[in-house]
Amino acid sequence: MGLHAILGFVLVTGVAAAQDLDSQLAAALRSAGFTGIVGSSIQARLGRSIDPKLANLGRLLFFDKIPSLHDDNACAGCHSPTNGFGDTQSIAIGIQNNNLVGPNRSGPRNQRRTPMAANTPFFPALMWNERFFAVSGDPFDNSGGFVFPLPEGATRFPPHDPIIKTLAAAQGEMPPTELTEVAGFTGTAGTIGPQFDQFDDGKGSPVPPPDASGSRNDPIRQAVLKRLNASPAYRELFGEVFPSVAAGGPVDFSMFGRAIAEFEFTLIFANAPIDRFARGEHGAMSVPEKKGALVFFGKGGCVTCHAVAGKSSEMFSDFKMHVMGVPQIAPEFGLGKGNVIFDGPDQDEDFGLEQITGNPADRYKFRSSPLRNVALQPAFFHNGSFTRLEDAIYHHLHVFESARSYDPIRAGVDKDLTLRLGPIEPVLERVDPLLLNPAQLTADEFENLVTFVRTGLFDERAERQNLCSLIPATLPSGMQPLNFEECPQAGK
Ligand code: HEC
Ligand code: HEC
Repeated sequence: MGLHAILGFVLVTGVAAAQDLDSQLAAALRSAGFTGIVGSSIQARLGRSIDPKLANLGRLLFFDKIPSLHDDNACAGCHSPTNGFGDTQSIAIGIQNNNLVGPNRSGPRNQRRTPMAANTPFFPALMWNERFFAVSGDPFDNSGGFVFPLPEGATRFPPHDPIIKTLAAAQGEMPPTELTEVAGFTGTAGTIGPQFDQFDDGKGSPVPPPDASGSRNDPIRQAVLKRLNASPAYRELFGEVFPSVAAGGPVDFSMFGRAIAEFEFTLIFANAPIDRFARGEHGAMSVPEKKGALVFFGKGGCVTCHAVAGKSSEMFSDFKMHVMGVPQIAPEFGLGKGNVIFDGPDQDEDFGLEQITGNPADRYKFRSSPLRNVALQPAFFHNGSFTRLEDAIYHHLHVFESARSYDPIRAGVDKDLTLRLGPIEPVLERVDPLLLNPAQLTADEFENLVTFVRTGLFDERAERQNLCSLIPATLPSGMQPLNFEECPQAGK
């Protein structure tokens, strides 16, 4: 054979192999029910267009500390634009923080890692233990109502509510009520339990006492509304979208929740290489990404839990709960260290779903993480116990070995989280049967799988520089803005 013939042969087989890979992947996506069009479906799902004024008001509220009775945190303090509107930490830091958002944020830890707010409007159930959910299984359909733990229960967001039509709008009414995250403990000394008196530092406004329901949630909402209604800047902004406010009526809390949700509707970043490929743009993915995707949808078994079909809305989660054998790391409890008492005899465990159902069979169960844009996260799993994506994926494939040999220092978590490890054997006893016979991947297959999860699921519009541009230059409340260490304008 002459040189030309050999080259021609190599080229032809190369092209044939590439076409083969493309057609295999296209077939795998078809059989998984993946279309790549979810990212452009938000307005269709809402049944209306996004209201830019309401979304902008939601953005301002998301960054402003005015809903924080303790005056020192905002949604963005935990849901940071530097990380897809998710955490900069392994375990969230809420009140009594040092005003930094980024690697050097400090203050008492809460219980879990903050998930990314991006794309959450598509999730039929929210939170690590899915304690907020749409009965219809569709977050845009309130015909069955939205169910939350008490005191909201099934009644605050009832079926066919004419005002709260999305799970996102319902969820928006929750965070300001959380003492450890946003509201603080001012004025609570002597009322919660002696261990919590140390967090009552007298800063900000007092947290009101519980109402007849026994809960502080509504009294806190009323206190937050008092602040918003006393702010001429916010009254004007709410008045621009709500005629009743323009006519002199009060801002109510559903307006707050709806504004937050509207902002979240603008945070849909679901146009990744895999989506473009699925829509026929075969050049959108690299060869390693394609090979990794084949492992994900095939041999690796990932799509069983990180599902794309039906009610998962192509979010790479089945929105079901599984025990993954995740190492239990816990901060110490006390001033400046941690303000949530963990579960278990030594208070160093997280019982996950059991906290909601009270059923010991649900112990250690957490939601399959939606995986879009996961590369933006500084840490993985509900407690951020792994800081490298490779390690989190490796853990799935070697649960027992990975969990038993876990070393928080080697895993790269912050120092204050390396001091206490909860027991692992009770967790491993309950590991999801789907993980007992994991796929045996070659080194190449593993590497391609990691590449696919890292870049094949990443929508470039969620990049840090882009999301940092959403930080308001000034806050309507006039309060001191949070300092985002990793945004270009930080420190200015
Ligand atoms: C102190 C940090 C903190 C603050 C402040 C905070 N969050 Fe969160 N957020 C979290 C954590 C942690 C979770 C998961 C909690 C869990 O599952 O137990 C969460 C969950 C969520 C979820 C569900 C995400 C999912 O994947 O299911 C949404 C949406 C959300 N928060 C929006 C907001 C909004 C809007 C605000 C402000 C009004 C806010 N959060 C304030 C830490 C925070
Ligand atoms: C048995 C169901 C199941 C299977 C199969 C599965 N996962 Fe997971 N995955 C989960 C659950 C549940 C979590 C969250 C666990 C937690 O935080 O406690 C998770 C978390 C992750 C995370 C961390 C994301 C984050 O936000 O922290 C990555 C990455 C991941 N999975 C990738 C994969 C890959 C790749 C595969 C295939 C090799 C796979 N998973 C197979 C259930 C599964």
